[in-house]
Amino acid sequence: MTEQPTRPAPDARPWPLGVEGIAYGGDYNPEQWPVATRVEDVELMQRAGVNLVSVGIFSWAMLEPREGELDWGWLDDVLDRLHAGGIRVALATATASPPPWLTRAHPEVLPELADGTVLWPGARQAYSVSSPVFREYAVRMTRRMAERYGSHPALALWHVDNELGCHVPHDFSDDAAAAFRRWLEHRYGTVEALDEAWGTAFWSQRYSTFDEVLPPRQVPGFANPTQQLDFARFSSDELLTHYRALRDVLREVTPHVPTTTNLMLSTGTKWMDYFSWADDLDVVANDHYVRAHDPEGHVELAFSADLSRGVADGRPWILMEHSTSAVNWQERNRAKGPGEMLRNSLAHVARGADAVMFFQWRQSRAGAEKFHSAMLPHAGTDTDVWRSTVRLGEVLRALAPVRGSEVRADVALCFDYPAWWAAELDSHPTQALRYTDEVMAWYRQLWLRGVTADVVRPGADLGAYRLVVVPVLYSVTDADAARIAAAARAGATVVVTYFSGIVDEHDHVRLGGYPGAFRELLGVRSEEIFPLLAAERVTLDDGTTADLWTEKTHLEGAVPVRTYADGVLAGLPAVTRNDVGQGSAWYVATRPDELGLARLVDELLGEAGVLPTVPAPPPGVEVVRRRRTAEAPDGAATGFLFVLNHTAEAVEVAATGTDLLTGAEARGSVHVPAHGVAVVQEA
Ligand code: GAL
Repeated sequence: MTEQPTRPAPDARPWPLGVEGIAYGGDYNPEQWPVATRVEDVELMQRAGVNLVSVGIFSWAMLEPREGELDWGWLDDVLDRLHAGGIRVALATATASPPPWLTRAHPEVLPELADGTVLWPGARQAYSVSSPVFREYAVRMTRRMAERYGSHPALALWHVDNELGCHVPHDFSDDAAAAFRRWLEHRYGTVEALDEAWGTAFWSQRYSTFDEVLPPRQVPGFANPTQQLDFARFSSDELLTHYRALRDVLREVTPHVPTTTNLMLSTGTKWMDYFSWADDLDVVANDHYVRAHDPEGHVELAFSADLSRGVADGRPWILMEHSTSAVNWQERNRAKGPGEMLRNSLAHVARGADAVMFFQWRQSRAGAEKFHSAMLPHAGTDTDVWRSTVRLGEVLRALAPVRGSEVRADVALCFDYPAWWAAELDSHPTQALRYTDEVMAWYRQLWLRGVTADVVRPGADLGAYRLVVVPVLYSVTDADAARIAAAARAGATVVVTYFSGIVDEHDHVRLGGYPGAFRELLGVRSEEIFPLLAAERVTLDDGTTADLWTEKTHLEGAVPVRTYADGVLAGLPAVTRNDVGQGSAWYVATRPDELGLARLVDELLGEAGVLPTVPAPPPGVEVVRRRRTAEAPDGAATGFLFVLNHTAEAVEVAATGTDLLTGAEARGSVHVPAHGVAVVQEA
C-alpha cells in the first residue's frame, strides 16, 4: 500500500479567523428581534460556549430598505456586541433573497420553470443567477458589506449567498437561455460540434446556429438527453459563476478573510456538481438535515459527512447547518430522540467536521420557519433542547484536541453528480433505478460493518485504497474509467455494478457491448439488458435473489462468482471476478437482495484485507477514528475513537485511552450508555 499524500499542516489551511478549538454556533438572525433580545442572545451564547455565528444571510431588505438607502446601524450594533462577547462572525453577503423593491423595479430578474411559470417574490431566492441585472445588484451589495465590515474584529469568514440552488437549481428564463448559449459556444466552439455531441440527426433536431438553441423547456415527449445533461452542467456552473463573482469582490477587498458558501451534500440534493465547486471554496461548508422518517437516518448522515470530507479532499470542513430537533419542511417533523442531537453532531465531527453549527440560534416567532427547532427554543432555557445546546458546547470544548486531525479510509466509494443526472434521465431500460439508492445500498453495508469509506469522485486519486466501489457509473469519461482500472492494476479490489460505463460524457453509447468503458477491466461483455418487472425476482446459485436488473453477460476472461439459477438467463453469470495486474475487478450485473449484497461485501472486504475500525462493533454502534499525524504542529501522533451508540442498550466497545467526554480511563474497552457517545483519545 502506498502512503496517503502528506497534507499541509492543519493550521496552514484557511479556517474561520480566530476561532479556537471546534467552532460552535449557528445562523443568527437578530433582525427578527428587539435590542433587548439581542443583549440576552450574547449572554446565552456565552453560556452555551458558542464561538461562531452566521449573520446577515437574509438581511438585504433590512440593510437596504429602499434602493440606495443603507441602514447599517443595527448590524454595526450586532457585530460590536458579538465582538465584545468574544463571539466570531461568519458574515453573509446578504444576497440570498433580494428585497421587494428590487424585484418590483426589475421583474426580469425573476427565475422561470421549464413551463414558463415565473417564481415570484414572497419567499426567498426569487432571482436568476443568469440575470445581469441581479448580478450587478448582488455584486454591489457584496462590495458594500466587504467595505463596511472587512476590518471588523469579529469577522472570521465570508458566507456567500446561502445554499445556492436550493430552491432554484434550474432556471429556464430568457436570461438563462442566453447564458446557456454562451456556455455551449464555449464548450463546443462550433454548432457542428454541438450537433454531433447532442446527436441532433435524431428527430430532426439539427441546429444551424447557436441562436436556435434553447434550454430544455417543456416539450412534447422526451427532450434530447444530451441537451438535458448539458443544461444540468450549465446550471451547476452558472450557480458557481455567481458564487465566484461575489467571492472575487470579497477577495479583492479582504484578501485575508476566507470565503465559503454552504453546500447541501446529501442524497437529497442532486443538481449541483459540488466536486467541481470545491476548488473555489477556501473551506468546505455543508448543511445536513436528518430524514426523520428513516429509522436509519444516521446512516445517510454518515454518508453526507463522508461526502463532505471527499469534497474537502480530506481536509476538515464546517458543518454549517443542522437541526437541534425537528425541522419544518418534512412530511411529519419528528423531534429528535434522547441523545440524538449530540450523536448527530459528533457523527459529523467523527467524519472530519471541525465546526458544528445549526440552523438557527433562536427559534423564530414569525415566518415560515417558526416551527423549526433552534438552539434556543420558544419555551426558553428551561428545556431539554437548551440543556442539550449547553451540553454540546461543553463537549465540543473537551474535543478541542481533535481539531485538525484526519480520517483515513481504506475504501473509496465513487460518487459522481453528472453520472447521477445521466443515470436518471428518461427513456432508459427502467425508470425504477434511483442512483442514490444504489450508492446507499453499498454504503450501508460498509457502515453496518464499521468500515469507514471516503466518498470521492471517480477521477480522484484512488491509489491509496484497498477497495474501490463503483455503483451505477452509467456515464464515465475515458480518463475516469482509466483511473479506476489503474487502481485495480495497482492492487486494489474494484467492484463495478450494472448500468456502468454505458455511455461517454455526451450520453453516447459505447459500442460493442456493455458495460462499455469497463468491459476490458471486468473481462465480461453483456449483449442485452433484461430489466425485471416490478414484482419480478431471480434466484442466484447461492440461494439469494436479485431484482430490478439483469443482463445477458458473457465471460471474456472473468470467472463467475454467482450465476442465475432461474429465469431466462439461468446458467449465465450474475457476478464475476477478473484478475487484473496486482488486483482484481468484480462485476455485479444485477441488484442483489440484502443477504446477497452482505455476502458479497464480506467477500470483497476479505479479499481486499479491509478491517473495520474496531473488530465486530455491536449492531447499531458507529465507530470512526480520526488521527492526528506526527506532522501536526504539536508533533504528537494520536487517534480519537468516536463511539456513537444509536441503540437503547448500553454497550462496551474495544478501546484504550481516555474518554474526553467523561475523563474516564478506557483499559481495553469503553462503556457507552444507551443513546450515548464516547470519544476516546488513544495513547
Ligand atoms: C436550509 C437553509 C436555512 C433554513 C434551513 C431549515 O436549507 O439554508 O436558511 O431554511 O434550511 O432547515
